[in-house]
Amino acid sequence: MSPVPSPDPAAWPALLAARTRLRQTPQDFALVQRAGGWSCAAIDDDLHGAAAVVFVAITGVIPLHAARLAMPCSVFVPGSGAAAASWLHPGERPVAATTLDFLRLYLPVLVGCATAWRQQRVFVTAHLAQTLDGRIACTSGQSQWIGNQANLIHAHRLRALHDAVLVGCGTVERDDPQLTVRQVDGPQPRRVVLSGSGRVLTGDYRVFAAAGCVVLTANRQAAPRARVDIARLPDEGGRLAADTACAALWQRGLWSCYLEGGGTTVSTFLQSRRIDLLHLHLAPIVLGSGIPGFSLPEVATIADGTRFQMQPFALDGHVLFECRPEADVAAS
Ligand SMILES: NC(=O)c1ccc[n+]([C@@H]2O[C@H](COP(=O)([O-])OP(=O)(O)OC[C@H]3O[C@@H](n4cnc5c(N)ncnc54)[C@H](OP(=O)(O)O)[C@@H]3O)[C@@H](O)[C@H]2O)c1
Repeated sequence: MSPVPSPDPAAWPALLAARTRLRQTPQDFALVQRAGGWSCAAIDDDLHGAAAVVFVAITGVIPLHAARLAMPCSVFVPGSGAAAASWLHPGERPVAATTLDFLRLYLPVLVGCATAWRQQRVFVTAHLAQTLDGRIACTSGQSQWIGNQANLIHAHRLRALHDAVLVGCGTVERDDPQLTVRQVDGPQPRRVVLSGSGRVLTGDYRVFAAAGCVVLTANRQAAPRARVDIARLPDEGGRLAADTACAALWQRGLWSCYLEGGGTTVSTFLQSRRIDLLHLHLAPIVLGSGIPGFSLPEVATIADGTRFQMQPFALDGHVLFECRPEADVAAS
């Protein structure tokens, strides 16, 4: 099983540069290793003198291009199934295995964001830390910390790679998270809270400490609040559809969204098939009671469950599963 390196390997700044590049030009790109470290480049830049090159295929043209290059390189190919993301190695393998594992975990997020932009839709990654028996918190609501330090760093990397980080009102009330990037270098995502009732707007929470937090609500009477962007959206019985929430993000120029919990919110998106990538952290703990990660309508048979393609990553004695809904895999 691939380990997730921690702390940041040298390739992280290049991933952040790629994120910026993809916001401007959602096209194939290259990560280039030189004596001075890693950087991000266009595929037709002069790559001579590079120690290693990783091409990232978004349009599918790159493998041919790379095969013509007379230098060792790796090609990251987002595809389908277990090969949802895979490596081609024309020539010798130039990049350290730990770096390839690191890129393997985070490149699907960047590629997904770029692909979503090309398709004019928001890309959604969800992430939960749960126990062996599927709980994300005790019955009291305490959830800190089911995950470990490596998972916390991973969560901050995911915040930095997405345009928005979204949590449900229950998580704000219980955990009062800041939703900022602090464990790693990186840009700050827009903070978004889903609160059908709008009651989050009456509390004094840390998400409101800086200007620009977006609250998605079904409450048309929600009073304005200074420095908060309130989106009063159409609902069904007080519930917002995941598509409606995503449309509100898209309107604000937010192409990618990291769902950080809790279970009710993630389940809303899963039920609507609006999760593109699910990162499920499994901790070696059994609670035997508590708040479940997923609550969905009853299914009659196992065949009616939502299926995923999974790739495991080791996280300091815990396991992180990268899961792609099988329906998406079949369509890709
Ligand atoms: N282990 C982890 O990874 C993790 C991560 C995050 C949180 N947590 C824990 O999870 C617990 C909170 O989770 P939770 O499931 O109870 O709550 P939650 O998902 O954080 O928030 C639920 C609230 O979000 C709003 N909401 C969700 N879906 C909606 C929809 N479709 N339409 C409109 N509003 C919607 C509603 O707000 P209104 O009531 O305002 O309508 C709802 O009451 C806490 O104990 C927290 O510590 C654990």
